Amino acid sequence: MHISLAPMEGVVDYPMRLLMTELGGYDRCVTEFIRVTDVLLPDRVFFRYCAELEHGCHTLSGTPVHIQLLGSDPDAMASNACRAVSLGAVAIDLNFGCPAKTVNKSNGGSILLRNPERVGSIVRAVRDAVPANVPVNAKIRLGYESDETFEEVAEKVFAAGANELCVHARTKVQGYKPPAYWPRARAIVGGKPQAALTINGEIWSVDDALTALQQSRFGRLMLGRTALARPDLALQIKARLAGDVYLPLQWVDIFGLLQTQFKRSDKSSARHIGNRTKQWLAYLKRTYPEAEILFTSIKRLHDESAFSRALTEHERFLASGFPVPTEITPSQRGEIRSVASVS
Ligand SMILES: Cc1cc2nc3c(=O)[nH]c(=O)nc-3n(C[C@H](O)[C@H](O)[C@H](O)COP(=O)(O)O)c2cc1C
Repeated sequence: MHISLAPMEGVVDYPMRLLMTELGGYDRCVTEFIRVTDVLLPDRVFFRYCAELEHGCHTLSGTPVHIQLLGSDPDAMASNACRAVSLGAVAIDLNFGCPAKTVNKSNGGSILLRNPERVGSIVRAVRDAVPANVPVNAKIRLGYESDETFEEVAEKVFAAGANELCVHARTKVQGYKPPAYWPRARAIVGGKPQAALTINGEIWSVDDALTALQQSRFGRLMLGRTALARPDLALQIKARLAGDVYLPLQWVDIFGLLQTQFKRSDKSSARHIGNRTKQWLAYLKRTYPEAEILFTSIKRLHDESAFSRALTEHERFLASGFPVPTEITPSQRGEIRSVASVS
């Protein structure tokens, strides 16, 4: 099973991609969108969004990172895609799903789903401009106000030569409100290789993943907020599909990841110290009640030493008899063992 870590502006940046791919289970990452207007962006913009360009456009643990562009001008999209490729991009992802007002107002993101022709012409321009061995993929929602244009958009995307399509199974107007309409996505499956279709949206558990795959008949998954809420969800899904026994990570393990994230975080701006850690905790609270306890203790802190002290206190709190199941040691968690080896 192929699982991508979703692009998330302001959230899934270089350090988060590094951490998540070190943990494992992800076959691909996609950068936050790079906004393209009508100019050729300077190299530094591509390196800012995709520091992995420094090492072959892969995370340090070897996971490929696709560069995502968002814009509505086919020529500008094409020339910026070429620039990205010249800097080492291994694949280009085109964003037709962003619901942000400012982006939609300037005719970018999900508003383009109202105009399947336009989507097709952007994909075509980029496809024609970059070398044939560089995949060009598109990420869409089911539509803008309604899902009426969904099939036509998908058809134009593939007719224009896209290699893959990822569908966040909701319209723009549906926003992030559950549910995601996985069965609706199935309409476009006919004749396409399963590996060309990725289903995304509201996959919070292994059972959700299996249902999304079964209902959409797509071959691949993408996880966004859900990956942040349950960092080893991709590992859990893969283990279940392989028939392996997997011991999900517990809070004590996740807390270790969080400490690493804080240590690595950019502390150059005093005002923003710890913000990314708080942001991640907001997602983790959904799965781990302990995340709420930690969040409450750090939410007003901006000072590095106070923040570090709060993390150390939480570590002591966990070590001092916080109910952690004793039959599983932290080092055992996250291991995948085959059914044969435990039975
Ligand atoms: C904070 C945030 C930022 C996002 N930024 C992007 C982005 O830059 N590009 C993109 O294609 N999708 C973006 N998305 C959408 C996600 O990639 C994904 O499609 C969506 O969150 C649904 O998946 P999930 O239910 O697994 O989170 C963003 C979503 C969120 C919540």
